[in-house]
Parts: sequence; C-alpha cells; structure tokens
Amino acid sequence: MNTLRLGVNIDHVATVRNARGSAYPDPVRAALMAAEAGADGITAHLREDRRHISDRDIDRLMEKLTLPLNFEMAATDEMQQIALRHKPHAVCIVPEKREERTTEGGLEVAREENKLAHFIAPLREAGCRVSIFIAADQRQIDAAHRIGAQVIELHTGAYCDFHYEGKFDERDAELDRMKEMATYAHGLGLEVHAGHGLTYDTVKPVAALPEIVELNIGHFLIGEAIFLGLNDAISEMRRLMNEARAPSEPSAL
Ligand code: PXP
Repeated sequence: MNTLRLGVNIDHVATVRNARGSAYPDPVRAALMAAEAGADGITAHLREDRRHISDRDIDRLMEKLTLPLNFEMAATDEMQQIALRHKPHAVCIVPEKREERTTEGGLEVAREENKLAHFIAPLREAGCRVSIFIAADQRQIDAAHRIGAQVIELHTGAYCDFHYEGKFDERDAELDRMKEMATYAHGLGLEVHAGHGLTYDTVKPVAALPEIVELNIGHFLIGEAIFLGLNDAISEMRRLMNEARAPSEPSAL
C-alpha cells in the first residue's frame, strides 16, 4: 500500500501567540520542530482576518522551511496574489467566512465552477499543486476534476463530530461515504487527501483508506503538545497512521 504523508498544520501556535499579541510561541519554530518529528509537510492557513497566521509568518515559512508548504487560502484576489508571489509547493482552496470558528464545510465547487477554474489556472501555471477542500460528495468531486484541480482534500469534520457526539451510526455512514468517494476520485486520477478535526481516536479508520495519500492535522496536535510536547504528539499520530496502514497480520489459523 502507498505511504501516507502527514501534513502538520501550525495555525494554532499562532492563535496562542496572538492571544497576547506577543512574539511567542513562534509557529515557524513549531514548523521546524514538526519537521524534526517526522512531518512530511507543513500547512498554514492565512485567513482573510489574519486571526492566527500572519503575512510575516508565511514569508518566514517560505524562507526557513525545508519541507513542502501547503498554503491554505480562500479564493480571493488578495490570497491569489500572495500565493503567486511565494509559489508554495501546494495551495489548498478552502471556504472562509469571517464569523466561523474554523473551516466549517467544504467548498461549493459545483456552483462556482467557472470562477474557480479561472482562479486556479494561474496557480497551476505557477507550479503550485492545487487542492480543493470538499465534502465527500460526487458532484463536488466531478466539479473539482473539471476545473483542473490535481488534488481533493476530503473534509473529515463531520465524521469526527459524529464520533465525539456518540452518533456512531452517522459516523460510520460518513466514513463509508468518504471511502466510496476516495475510490471514485482516485479513479478520476485525482490525488486524495483528508483532514479536519482528526485526533488519536478518529485517525485510524481514515488512515486505513488506501486511496488517501495525505492527512492534514493541526488543532489536536497543537493541543496535545501542551501535555506531551510537540515531538511526542506528532510521533504518536504518525505511529497510529502507520499502524492503520500496515498490512493486517495473517490469521493464526
Ligand atoms: N485541512 C483543511 C483544509 C483545513 O482547513 C484544516 C483546518 O485549518 C485542517 C485540515 C486541519 O484541521 P484541524 O486543525 O482540525 O486538525
């Protein structure tokens, strides 16, 4: 089975920094530590309201990181210009509303197909790998494929919420949908990623889906780093991902 990459999202190191308007904790330092701990990439979301990651953080990440940067952004002219200036390894287009606490749903690609096709074309031409963050919905996958995205990232937020709300039937149904849609997207030639809300409790069934080649995980890891340290928090996530991905043991019979 192909290997599964771990992208560590460092946004919430910046959230803690910004809570006091200080210079620390530094998200770039966290990114460099995540690289040491075995992350395969770093994700940072420059939000329109700059609530966590700042423009300067992106400048410094581009300067100091040796790992690929996955630049999360809304489909706005301002973000497109910033991405074209930096030309990060990857861009992930996400929906963004000022009032939401986090990225609450996937992008509505099907309704915005023309606009998004024009939006991503220069990013692709600049050599960025373009990913679209969507729900496990065939309409959205077809649209992402038509507009020329190379990657889709499946939104795992609903699956994780159902788990923690104890709604296990709904959780399992969402997982089945992700499984089916990962296979479908892979069949179209899209690279499939997943992320949002993943924790030690929820990561393994997603990591076990063979078409998924990258998970992007942030909030839980940064929170867990308070208790374990960033290195151990990331190493444990990596261990669980590898365990989920390992071929199952032959039965004793
Ligand atoms: N993937 C995408 C596209 C996201 O927007 C986010 C949150 O910024 C994540 C993954 C990571 O989610 P979390 O911080 O809940 O692990």
